[in-house]
Amino acid sequence: MTVIQPTTGASTDAAATRARTELRRFPDDFLLGAAAAAYQIEGAAHEDGRTDSIWDAFSRVPGAVVAADNGDVACDHYHRYRDDVALMRELGLNAYRFSTSWSRVRPDGGAVNPKGADFYSRLVDELLEQGVTPWLTLYHWDLPQALEEQGGWANRDTAYRFRDYALTMHDVLGDRVKIWTTLNEPWCSSFLSYTAGAHAPGRQDVAAGLQAAHHLMLGHGLAVQALRERDASLDLGITLNLTVAKPVDPASPGDLDAARRIDGQFNRVFLDPIFRGHYAGDLLADVGHLGLRDAIQPGDLEIISAPIDALGVNYYHGEFVSDRPADHPLEGQAPTDRPTRSPFPAADGVHFHPQDLPQTGMGWEVQPDGLRELLGRVHREYTGPAGVRLFVTENGAAYDDEVAEDGAVHDVERTDFLLAHLDAILDAIEEGTPVHGYFYWSILDNFEWAWGYDKRFGIVRVDYETQERTIKDSGLAYQRVIRDRGLPA
Ligand code: NOJ
Repeated sequence: MTVIQPTTGASTDAAATRARTELRRFPDDFLLGAAAAAYQIEGAAHEDGRTDSIWDAFSRVPGAVVAADNGDVACDHYHRYRDDVALMRELGLNAYRFSTSWSRVRPDGGAVNPKGADFYSRLVDELLEQGVTPWLTLYHWDLPQALEEQGGWANRDTAYRFRDYALTMHDVLGDRVKIWTTLNEPWCSSFLSYTAGAHAPGRQDVAAGLQAAHHLMLGHGLAVQALRERDASLDLGITLNLTVAKPVDPASPGDLDAARRIDGQFNRVFLDPIFRGHYAGDLLADVGHLGLRDAIQPGDLEIISAPIDALGVNYYHGEFVSDRPADHPLEGQAPTDRPTRSPFPAADGVHFHPQDLPQTGMGWEVQPDGLRELLGRVHREYTGPAGVRLFVTENGAAYDDEVAEDGAVHDVERTDFLLAHLDAILDAIEEGTPVHGYFYWSILDNFEWAWGYDKRFGIVRVDYETQERTIKDSGLAYQRVIRDRGLPA
C-alpha cells in the first residue's frame, strides 16, 4: 500500500486532475473521523468533583495494569481540550467520537455535578466552533465505583441508573449533539470485565458476566426509549466490537462448532437481542443455564430491541478457530501475570489459531479483508433489513513508535494499516454494503486499559513527560485522505 502523495504546487493542472480522478472516492456524506474515550485521555481524575470509576479502583489493584499505570493524568485532555480540538481541525476530521464520564457528571452515580457537566458542554461548543461533528458515547467502561459496590452491571438496577444518567447528558448536550450511542463494546464491559477479570472491575464469575451483558443491553434499550421520547430527531445507536469467526478447517465439524460458539458468544449475543428481540436458540442452549436465563425478565427483549438509527462496528481482527490446539497460540487478552479466565462462558476446548500474518503491537493479526466481510454480513443479516445505518466506530493499531531525529514519527506500519482498512471499506461499499463513516482509534496515544501507556494507538503521538503532541506520518496520511475524500486507486 503506497502512502498518498499530496499534490504539490508545481503540479500541472492535468496532473492534478488525473490524480483526483484516480482516487477511489468515499460517498459524499461519509464521515471520516477519529475516536477516544473519557478515562483513556482526560486525566483530572480527582478534579472538579469527579469521583472514582471502576477503572480508578481497578488500576490500584496490584498487577492489574502494566507498570501500575492509571488514568490520573493520561493525556491531560481535560485541560488541553482546546488544543486537541485544534489538532482535529488541522487533521480535517469530519467528526470526533468521544465519551462522557458518568463519575464526572454524576459522581458516585448520584446528583448532577455542574462542573463536570460543564466540561462536556465546553468541549462540544469547541468542536462545533471548529467544524467537527461531535459523536457522543455515553458509556465507555467507566462505571462509578459506588455503583459497582452495589453489584455493578450484574445488578439489574444499574440499567435504570444508566437511563437516568443518559437523560442527564441529554439535559446538558441535547441541544447541540445529534448523534448518541449508548454503549461502547458491551462484550468487553461484561465478559472481559465480569467473566475474565482482565478489565475493571476484575470479577471472574461466569454468571455475573452473562447478567452484566443482559443488563448492559437493558440499559441501552431503556436509554434509547427515554432519549427517543425526549427528542424524536436524535440519531440513536450502539457500538459493538464484532469479529469474523472462521473454522480453521471448514470441513471439520469440530472446527465449525468452535466458530459457531465464538460467533454466538461474541457477536450474536448482542446482535440478536438488539435487532431481532431474542437470543438465538443455540446460544441459549450453550449459556442459558449459566446465568443468562435467570437475568431475563418479561418485557426485557422488547426494550432491548427498541429501534435504533445507527450501529457502530469496532473491528480490529478476525479469529480462526478449531477444536484442536494451535502450534503457536496467539497472545491472550491479559497483559499482566494476574490470573484471568476465558471471557467465553461456554467455549472450553475452542482454540484460536494464528494465520502467520503480520501482527500489530498487541499481537493482533492484520486482516483488513475481514472488515469487508464483517460489514457485508452485518448489513445483510441485521442493519440492512432494519434500515439502520452502519458505521465503523473504531479500527486502529498499536505499534512501538520511535521518534526520529527530525522529531517526526515515521509509522509506516500504522499508515499501511489505516489505508488498508479504508480500502476494505471501499471494497464493501462497492459490493453493495452501505457504510456511512469511519473513526480511527485513536486520535491520541492514550491509556490502553490493562496495558497502560505501553501501547500506542494514536495518529498523534503524546509525550507523557511534557504532554507535547506530534502528528505522526499516519496522521498526515489520514489528513490527505480526508482532504481528497478518497484513496489512490
Ligand atoms: C476498544 C476500545 O473501545 C478502546 O477503548 C480500546 O482502547 C481499543 N479498542 C484498542 O484496544
